[in-house]
Amino acid sequence: MIVHVTDTGNDMAYRAAEMVKDRLVKYPDMTLGLATGGTMIGLYRYLVQMYERDIISFKSVVTFNLDEYVGIEASHPASFHRFMYEHLFKRIDILPQNVHIPDGMANDIQAECKSYDYAIKEHGGIDLQILGIGLNGHIGFNEPGTPFGTTTHVVDLAETTRAANARFFGSVEDVPKQAVTMGIKNIMQSRSIILMASGKAKADIVAKALTGPITPRVPASVLQLHPQLTVILDRQAAASMPKDYFDCSFVA
Ligand code: PGA
Repeated sequence: MIVHVTDTGNDMAYRAAEMVKDRLVKYPDMTLGLATGGTMIGLYRYLVQMYERDIISFKSVVTFNLDEYVGIEASHPASFHRFMYEHLFKRIDILPQNVHIPDGMANDIQAECKSYDYAIKEHGGIDLQILGIGLNGHIGFNEPGTPFGTTTHVVDLAETTRAANARFFGSVEDVPKQAVTMGIKNIMQSRSIILMASGKAKADIVAKALTGPITPRVPASVLQLHPQLTVILDRQAAASMPKDYFDCSFVA
């Protein structure tokens, strides 16, 4: 695990974008695993800027998003389809057929999970997976207690997750109760991972996940076992980490 610590959340986003850019320049046809949530907004803003400046192109890139709510249309303002479209896809040259996001409206949701796993395999697996971390340690929507061997599946969202995401819906009652998410096994099978976190609210869960016991009670703790994990934190999110974990400190 390599841990980078930046001054601000904006610097965290820039550092992550630089890492994605370096990879994209080297491997223009890579398969990229993408995430949603507040943490990702700055990253996508920088990637769009790099695209506009002709530094990177997404025309041969294939993407797989981690998750989507069950029961809301892709066009819903708080859907992850919409998030990705607004923050990234409509602003870059990615081909629509290369974008994959689980379909939370599928009639047969179990079949949707199977075909998502199949599509990931068919594209040769994920080269670089971007991750945020939930306040309860979830990655994707793999909530505490999720076995580490899971592939794409339907989850009941934790009440804390629904409360944290209420800001995107207006009220907690409007947040769907279920989601489809890539499983922990899918995530761990990615060839490399960038985990991003910013803000003081994340400090305790970040330290617990990266330095505490590896347990399904803290889903992100499994990442300690990944051979190619890069963690990018701002100072606030890094505040509870023991300093000797900072193999490499980066201040933008
Ligand atoms: P956030 O979500 O980026 O909005 O904090 C992270 C997550 O829940 O994975």
